[in-house]
Amino acid sequence: MTLVSKDITKAAAFLNNDELVSIPTETVYGLAANIFSETAINKIFEMKQRPLFNPLIVHTYSVEQLDKFVSYIPTKAKLLADAFWPGSLTMVLPKKSGVPDLVTAGKPTVGVRIPNHETTLELLQNLDFPLAAPSANPFGSISPTKASHVKNYFDGKLKMVLEGGSCQNGIESTIVGFENEEPVLYRLGSISIEEIESIVGSIKVKNNKEQAPDAPGMLSRHYAPETHTFLVDNVTEYVKNYPNKKVGVLLFSQKVSADNIVHTEILSKSGNLKEAAANLYATLHKLDTLDLDIIVAEKFPEYGLGKSINDRLLRATKKK
Ligand code: TXA
Ligand code: MG
Repeated sequence: MTLVSKDITKAAAFLNNDELVSIPTETVYGLAANIFSETAINKIFEMKQRPLFNPLIVHTYSVEQLDKFVSYIPTKAKLLADAFWPGSLTMVLPKKSGVPDLVTAGKPTVGVRIPNHETTLELLQNLDFPLAAPSANPFGSISPTKASHVKNYFDGKLKMVLEGGSCQNGIESTIVGFENEEPVLYRLGSISIEEIESIVGSIKVKNNKEQAPDAPGMLSRHYAPETHTFLVDNVTEYVKNYPNKKVGVLLFSQKVSADNIVHTEILSKSGNLKEAAANLYATLHKLDTLDLDIIVAEKFPEYGLGKSINDRLLRATKKK
């Protein structure tokens, strides 16, 4: 049985003992381990069935701590840190040699982030090491935004989920790297491109495998439900192709109707993209338990967090 508890001391004890603990963050739950424990880091890759070439994000609690594992911080990285940390931004920076290769998949850089979640910040302050933490889901499946999602994935295999409620932002951090001092966006996420650009000016986007073979998180099929899922412009028209199927629909704000729609989920009745993003994964988890034939999702507006939501839905609909 996996323990689900708010007990930070217990979580720290497991982590000090080379075990994994799932930690809450404001984006998604992470599967955390001591970055200096080879035993624990190996358990992450094993439990997630994650390929070793995919580097992990290092989580810490303050910018001062960065000095221990980052060798250089570009000027624009400092601006972004001031603007968004603690928060849903991961920056890929040149690493110090003390950061194990297993964590960074042998890269000369390390992805770092200060999460904005009280419980996990307190946990990090109680530890002598930072935590490597990918999202706490089996490789390729939907990321968890509630403790119960993590427990369903890893019950019995994982020692503990540190309970921290539902994740406020609900999709992963935005990842920014630097090429010749200039920021480049490697993964769309909880902070919109517009927000990043309001701090550092216009930035290059390399948000897929073709453009960024170096950011292996961008493998095309990811975040995917078991139920076959489609992303379309016009849900009402599209569901007509499946007259004899049990269809579930995932919509932004407006209801649609058709005889074969047996379940409807609306992500934000008021049309708020932040609220829609926060509800996205929990809703996909739910739709996946309803024994539907197919899920049809509506394309979101292509701005702000709408872009990040479309990115995740597109990857969720790629064939295996
Ligand atoms: O919101 C989040 O970022 C969550 C929470 C738990 O913090 N974590 C998360 O981790 O989404 P994960 O492992 O599912 O995705 C991290 C991605 C990797 O797929 C990888 O592509 C990228 O971050 N990454 C990490 N270190 C990198 C590096 N040194 N260079 C390029 N990409 C890196
Ligand atoms: Mg992930």
